[in-house]
Amino acid sequence: MHPMLNIAVKAARRAGSIINRATLEGGLEVHAKNRNDFVTQVDRAAEQAVIDVIRRAYPDHGFLAEESGASAGARPEYRWVIDPLDGTTNYIHGFPQYCVSIALQHKDVLTQAVVYDPGKNELFTASRGRGAFLDDRRMRASKCAHLKDALVGTGFPFKELGRLDLYLRQLRNLMGTCSGVRRAGSAALDLAYVAAGRLDAFWEMGLSPWDMAAGALLIQEAGGLTCDLEGKPDFLASGDIVAASPKVLQELLSALK
Ligand code: IPD
Repeated sequence: MHPMLNIAVKAARRAGSIINRATLEGGLEVHAKNRNDFVTQVDRAAEQAVIDVIRRAYPDHGFLAEESGASAGARPEYRWVIDPLDGTTNYIHGFPQYCVSIALQHKDVLTQAVVYDPGKNELFTASRGRGAFLDDRRMRASKCAHLKDALVGTGFPFKELGRLDLYLRQLRNLMGTCSGVRRAGSAALDLAYVAAGRLDAFWEMGLSPWDMAAGALLIQEAGGLTCDLEGKPDFLASGDIVAASPKVLQELLSALK
């Protein structure tokens, strides 16, 4: 395993034990950051644990983390993009679909990725050019060839209600053309499921880089494709991501138009 991926795995597992322990102990303190956007003391403690593990190994790297924001570091060309608990709303309700998401960018290129589901103890990893793995098994994106046969994941634009009409039009088109639609509530884990071939495709608008960075590299290394709604590569900047098996992507983009 690449040494930087190894550190990311260590950090993700450390955060995962904080998340699991807090599930047993209870006493969750929930604060609203914005409408429909929550944070708990577990998000914060898990994020601190991830940063501590990485900073000990790489003291001069930069960070972009959901709760503490951006810090450049002496070598800002290395940037760790962290969501310590993706699916906080699920976690608060005991709905078992949430994860830790950690990616490393080098000069803006995604190079390492970990998505860890602490409830199911599933570890999704990838290093650029070295493939993607679920635990120690190689992952391959689905070979689904037609949108009509595809199970498609999505996320609702619940923070950006201004785009709800556009989203509902997309959903209406999709529901008429694919085999099923799922909204599980953790974008990073949804993307990991595309990499694992459990979903044939996924789209969501208005995400943050920490929701997408690790999952996107997992998909690319598993042979799937990622882009924005225009089919362009800049989804990390726009926040709108479309991901699919190679044969389904064009059909999906047309259905979302
Ligand atoms: C959220 C989840 C959710 C997505 C939201 C994200 P958070 O992440 O990924 O699936 O629909 O847009 O913000 O806030 O729980 O880390």
